[in-house]
Amino acid sequence: MSFDNITLCVERGTGGLQKPVVVQSSLPAVPPKDHVVIRVSSFAFSTNNITYGQLGEMPGFLYFEFHPAPQTKETSPKTHAVLPVWGFGTVEASSHPSVKVGEKVYGYFSMSRYMMVPIGRVSRTGLFVPRPHLPSEFVPYNTITRCSADPMYRQDKEPETALYRPLFWTSFWMEDWLNYEKYKGADNILVTSASSKTAYCFAYVAKKRNEATNNRRQVIGLTSARNVEFTKKLGLYDQVFTYEELNKVKTEGKWVYVDVAGNPSLNEKIFQHFNSAGNPLLSSIVLGMTNIENAKDSAMSQQDKMETFFTPMWMAKRTEMLSAAEIHKMQQKAWSELMNDSVPWLHMQDTFYDNIVPRYMEIAKGIVEPDKGHTFSLWNEITRAKL
Ligand SMILES: NC(=O)c1ccc[n+]([C@@H]2O[C@H](COP(=O)([O-])OP(=O)(O)OC[C@H]3O[C@@H](n4cnc5c(N)ncnc54)[C@H](OP(=O)(O)O)[C@@H]3O)[C@@H](O)[C@H]2O)c1
Repeated sequence: MSFDNITLCVERGTGGLQKPVVVQSSLPAVPPKDHVVIRVSSFAFSTNNITYGQLGEMPGFLYFEFHPAPQTKETSPKTHAVLPVWGFGTVEASSHPSVKVGEKVYGYFSMSRYMMVPIGRVSRTGLFVPRPHLPSEFVPYNTITRCSADPMYRQDKEPETALYRPLFWTSFWMEDWLNYEKYKGADNILVTSASSKTAYCFAYVAKKRNEATNNRRQVIGLTSARNVEFTKKLGLYDQVFTYEELNKVKTEGKWVYVDVAGNPSLNEKIFQHFNSAGNPLLSSIVLGMTNIENAKDSAMSQQDKMETFFTPMWMAKRTEMLSAAEIHKMQQKAWSELMNDSVPWLHMQDTFYDNIVPRYMEIAKGIVEPDKGHTFSLWNEITRAKL
């Protein structure tokens, strides 16, 4: 007996932007000692996952090293990789004494029907996957959450949870960091790829901070012409302009730039816009890279002019400053507010096995409507296990 598996793989060296290949393989019904087989029921898919592919082989990120591609006639771990995704699943087989079959879990899974991983330490709230070949600060990626012990878990919000968790927490902790840094002295924040969830969640958190502290800091979004109406309608930015309208962005005041597009030529225009007014940006921060096809050509090549924000690094510092209870309280409040406030922003849409490759390509090419949030499943329907 074995598990018949289906995996969506991408060719190494292509950043996940070439047509993916879907392959069949099998996993043992009885996993090796201290391993589990998880049935991946569904996972979110957004530009964030495409960026994982673009950084798949880049030192310091290595996103292709989480889930090796299966050895098949068409694929091997050397030629292909599997993009990591955030989703829900159920433990289907376990050879670990502390992990029971049937347990519902959330984590950094592979684009497949099943995945097999080793399990090291187990706590009341999580299962820890040992990946000694990856940097030590990658703990959040290596922790599988036990849904029954997760205070933020809501069965009716599984799709939104899979989608927003990795994006919202980046925006939330990024704003927390900027606030800690007193916003670098700025009273205006310019954000690119303003229609992306990571960008508008940042605007949302910054707006909430303004309301809570009676501050008048402005967040201004730049987006593409086809996404400008959606971005304005969100009501999260003080002003929204298209990339072509950059000259309409005022240059007075003190400015910080948060770059989610990662497009070096756009960045040069933005630097120039403020420099030519004699008012250079106080700081420019790389947060994402939605607009690029090759990580080497991204804003990562402008590191001399930009700071990079990486959530696990800031979280590691924050856990030294705040108690676990304080962090828990902050997160709990922010998450429950998000789950209510985000309802009008988008509609969730499921894509199953039969349509997964075309939908993958649409998201990779950035031709999906911004008011849709996507969950994928390599199955033909989503079976949601009970807790
Ligand atoms: N640093 C971190 O720890 C961290 C964590 C989470 C996410 N991120 C990054 O934030 C970025 C946004 O991720 P997301 O999942 O929030 O995105 P998303 O919601 O899927 O955003 C899609 C938007 O990105 C732009 N876009 C996407 N594909 C494009 C393409 N091929 N060509 C041109 N523009 C394209 C468009 O925005 P516009 O029209 O507005 O440009 C589009 O509306 C990603 O690069 C992600 O990796 C970073």
